[in-house]
Amino acid sequence: MRHDAGPSRPPEVIDAGPAILRRWLVADLDASCEAVFGSLEHLRPWLPWAADFSRATQAEFLAGCELNWQSGEAFDYAVLVGGAIAGSAGLMARIGPGALEIGYWVHQAYTRRGLATASAAALTGQALALPGIARVQIVHDELNVASGAVPRKLGFVKIERRPLDHRPPGGTGMGVVWEMTRRRWRGTVCR
Ligand SMILES: CC(C)(COP(=O)(O)OP(=O)(O)OC[C@H]1O[C@@H](n2cnc3c(N)ncnc32)[C@H](O)[C@@H]1OP(=O)(O)O)[C@@H](O)C(=O)NCCC(=O)NCCS
Repeated sequence: MRHDAGPSRPPEVIDAGPAILRRWLVADLDASCEAVFGSLEHLRPWLPWAADFSRATQAEFLAGCELNWQSGEAFDYAVLVGGAIAGSAGLMARIGPGALEIGYWVHQAYTRRGLATASAAALTGQALALPGIARVQIVHDELNVASGAVPRKLGFVKIERRPLDHRPPGGTGMGVVWEMTRRRWRGTVCR
């Protein structure tokens, strides 16, 4: 009998409503650099990696996305609107077994259109549909009000505060942890 030894993965392309999530490819280097360079001022307060962002670090990130996708360590997607890169969103397996963490950023020209909320909603649904995944978390610095509004709007529950691994320049380094369980997701939303 043949056994599939690989990890279960979400789809490579996800319809998130106002955006399409398509997994990052190494071929996205030019377009993604343009998107990040066009948003650096907006990203730097909250994303430590934005401090020393360069074409080389982005090439490393995209190569890492490919490896992580294969290993199941992370599933990172470009957020596409009309084919253009409007941000990034992903699922990371770094919070222990049975759980995935969602991360996101949105290009400054595309904010306040519901893209982070729609992307996080789509990824939550996909994550909780994976075998063995019962919890999804979103973690943000306590001063990052915009980021915290996303899990709140989706019905995540604030479960704890814990120090972040890296203090973002605009924050205190104290993280707020929001969680959605499979049972709650099914119960709070008709899916
Ligand atoms: C946080 C971020 C991803 C939100 O993206 P977005 O697509 O604009 O978010 P949404 O449009 O889905 O907004 C969801 C809610 O967040 C809140 N919000 C968004 N931007 C806000 C802002 N600048 N100030 C206050 N609240 C804000 C609002 O309540 C909004 O709902 P509303 O528009 O119905 O009032 C985006 O601002 C960003 O990329 N920030 C920098 C990077 C970052 O902080 N990433 C997260 C790290 S944990």
